[in-house]
Amino acid sequence: MTTVLVTGGAGFIGANLVHHLLAHSPAPLIVVDKMTYAANPRTLDSWNGDRRVTFVQADIGDANAMAELFAAHRPGAIYNLAAETHVDRSIDSPEPFIRTNIVGTSVLLDVARRHWMTLETSERAAFRFLHISTDEVYGSLGASGLFSETTSYAPNSPYSASKAGADHLVRAYFHTYGLPTLVTNCSNNYGPFQHPEKLIPLFITNALQDQPLPLYGDGLQARDWLYVDDHADAISTVLDRGERGAVYNVAAGSERTNRAVTEAILRDVGRPWTLVRQVEDRLAHDRRYAMDGSRLRALGWQPQVSFDDGIARTVDWYRTHEDWWTSLRGDDWAAYYQDQYGRRLAHSVEA
Ligand code: NAD
Ligand code: DAU
Repeated sequence: MTTVLVTGGAGFIGANLVHHLLAHSPAPLIVVDKMTYAANPRTLDSWNGDRRVTFVQADIGDANAMAELFAAHRPGAIYNLAAETHVDRSIDSPEPFIRTNIVGTSVLLDVARRHWMTLETSERAAFRFLHISTDEVYGSLGASGLFSETTSYAPNSPYSASKAGADHLVRAYFHTYGLPTLVTNCSNNYGPFQHPEKLIPLFITNALQDQPLPLYGDGLQARDWLYVDDHADAISTVLDRGERGAVYNVAAGSERTNRAVTEAILRDVGRPWTLVRQVEDRLAHDRRYAMDGSRLRALGWQPQVSFDDGIARTVDWYRTHEDWWTSLRGDDWAAYYQDQYGRRLAHSVEA
């Protein structure tokens, strides 16, 4: 049976993917994670000691550690989710994004290639390296239109530029060496296990504590929101049925402005709009993302969870998992929050 490697498996989407794979397949899973600030050790406990999961704390940019891991476990499929992921942090400090998202992906690709070359012919043919990327590589849209898989890359933040660099390397490994790679570019995810630095969990957890909700700029930026288990299902569909070397956009078809998202959260948490503060905007803030997801839908995938249902489930999860998110709100969080929001909130206006 194929052993599956999930990098970044202690993070938000990685953890949900692990739950999804455990529920739908008997395959052994190797979960690799560096355990940066973005990973919560409590997430590892959520697999309840399932013996199919082996956890390895390691950096995807550490070539020796990755080579040892590939030699020991001989994975036949890789989901690469390990990354620095928060746009605001990339604006304040791009370097870790370059190191993990570009250099780390390049190291992992090369170790995977060397391992792949040692496989028997049938194993080589079945091998897959699926790289998880983002719609942000395409840049920003105006009021209408959709990105497609052939849209030119135009990243605007250090985060999206680093993801774009990684995507190009993955493409190059397919064309140059024939490594059976795939890339998925997904829209915004939400759901359980997401770090409260991101919009939806930040606003839910702040609202639960009657703290202000810092809405950037006019709050009319639009994102296409996908419930995270639907993303896990999408990427396992691509790994199983996608064409080698191809790119698939993962679109929810559930576009909302940040104001509309905020209204839905406040409705479900049961708090008033007066908590919302309009604060100074993010630098180079992309106005709108939306994608044509027809290529992936042709593989038989479609999202199962509506936005209203997904938000209700997510609010319920954060209400009932306070220990999970309060454990992330220590001194480091207080310093980050003060740095990111202190001045903005002091100069904020009613939204
Ligand atoms: P996350 O920040 O919650 O998790 C990332 C995980 O990667 C963390 O557990 C972290 O410890 C780990 N990690 C970071 N650097 C590492 C390294 N050098 N080696 C090993 N592990 C490392 O992020 P997420 O939201 O789960 O995103 C996962 C992937 O999906 C990323 O590649 C991201 O770009 C992509 N993506 C995310 C979204 C979204 O809305 N969250 C949408 C589209 C694509
Ligand atoms: O589009 C996919 C991307 O979605 C992923 O590639 C990224 O890893 C992921 O972090 C996410 O990026 P965004 O920048 O879209 O997500 P974020 O939750 O940071 O912000 C969503 C929107 O909400 C964005 O328009 C900025 C706004 N925002 C965010 C925060 C944290 C606010 O108005 N206030 C906030 O405090």
